Parts: sequence; structure tokens; C-alpha cells
Amino acid sequence: MRIEIYHASKYGNGKEVAEELRRLLEAKGHHARAQHITDASPGSLPDADLYVFGSPGRIGKPIGGMRRFLKKVNLPAGTRYAIFSTEIAPRPDKDGRMPTEEEVAKWQRIQPLMDELLRTKGLKKVADAKVYVNDVKGPLEEGWRKKVEQFADALADHT
Ligand SMILES: Cc1cc2nc3c(=O)[nH]c(=O)nc-3n(C[C@H](O)[C@H](O)[C@H](O)COP(=O)(O)O)c2cc1C
Repeated sequence: MRIEIYHASKYGNGKEVAEELRRLLEAKGHHARAQHITDASPGSLPDADLYVFGSPGRIGKPIGGMRRFLKKVNLPAGTRYAIFSTEIAPRPDKDGRMPTEEEVAKWQRIQPLMDELLRTKGLKKVADAKVYVNDVKGPLEEGWRKKVEQFADALADHT
């Protein structure tokens, strides 16, 4: 399977996830390539069996560059895609209370917005992964490699 991975990344965490994913997919015998979105042309992406898009969070949304990239993606309806995001891990408030899943989902709209942009083009989602960073600049959460491994397994299931 040929897999193209396009990521945004300001501080390098998303790039690390994309590179690890590429390495794992290659190890499974796939042809995978990972690129920063600034090195790719969304209107004329090369042929692939699966496209993976990865974005950091920005005020509850995907980073602007990724939103613009996804808006310009021009792929045939039915093309398969997967997404991942790097997001700040939910933290307790000043009283030590953790936000509920609903509270987090209300303002962390990174993946839903990525899906919305791709689904309106008729693209078909196969998997997603959310990898946390411990702070704005990282590092990636403990156990992030395991999450990426599970993501790679989920993608490989679609061969
Ligand atoms: C201005 C700004 C706004 C951010 N807003 C969010 C946010 O709403 N949700 C979130 O999970 N992370 C937010 N972050 C943190 C990013 O998730 C984090 O910087 C990113 O995942 C790191 O990935 P990168 O190293 O690939 O850039 C924000 C970071 C910055 C600089």
C-alpha cells in the first residue's frame, strides 16, 4: 500500500509522530512518505492508497496552515484518509477537578474540523489517533510510541 502522510508541526512533536508512523508502516512493508504541508501541493497530491493528515491544536481548531491545506485538497470521492492530532493533555482546574470528556470535546474541535473538511469532499475515513503533548512545545506524552503503533496497526488493517 502507498501511504502519503502530510503533517503540520511548529515545535517538532507532530513531525516526530509522522516520522515514527512512516517508519512503522515501512517496517510492515508499505511505501510510506511523510512530509510537512509546506513541502506539498494540496491541489495535486501524488497517487496513494491512503492519505494521513496530522495537525497540532490551535485554540480548539487545527492549525491555520492545515485548515487551508485541507480546504485545497483535491482527491477523488471515496479516497481513504486517516487523521492524527497533537493536543495538550487535559489538565485539572485550580480546584483539582479534571474536565469531563464532554467539556473537552466542546472546545477541542481539532479532529472534528479536520473530518468535516475532508468528508465534504466525499473522502472516507479509516482511522484516527490523538497524541498528547505535556506542554505547548512538548514533549510528547509518555507512551506515545505505543499509540502510534496502534494507529499504524489500524491503518495496516485497511490494506
Ligand atoms: C497559540 C497556541 C494555541 C494552542 N491551542 C491549543 C488548543 O486549543 N488545544 C490543544 O490541544 N493544544 C493547543 N496548543 C498546543 C499544541 O497542541 C502544541 O503546541 C502542539 O501539539 C505541538 O505540536 P508541534 O510540536 O508539532 O507543533 C496551542 C499552542 C499554541 C502555540
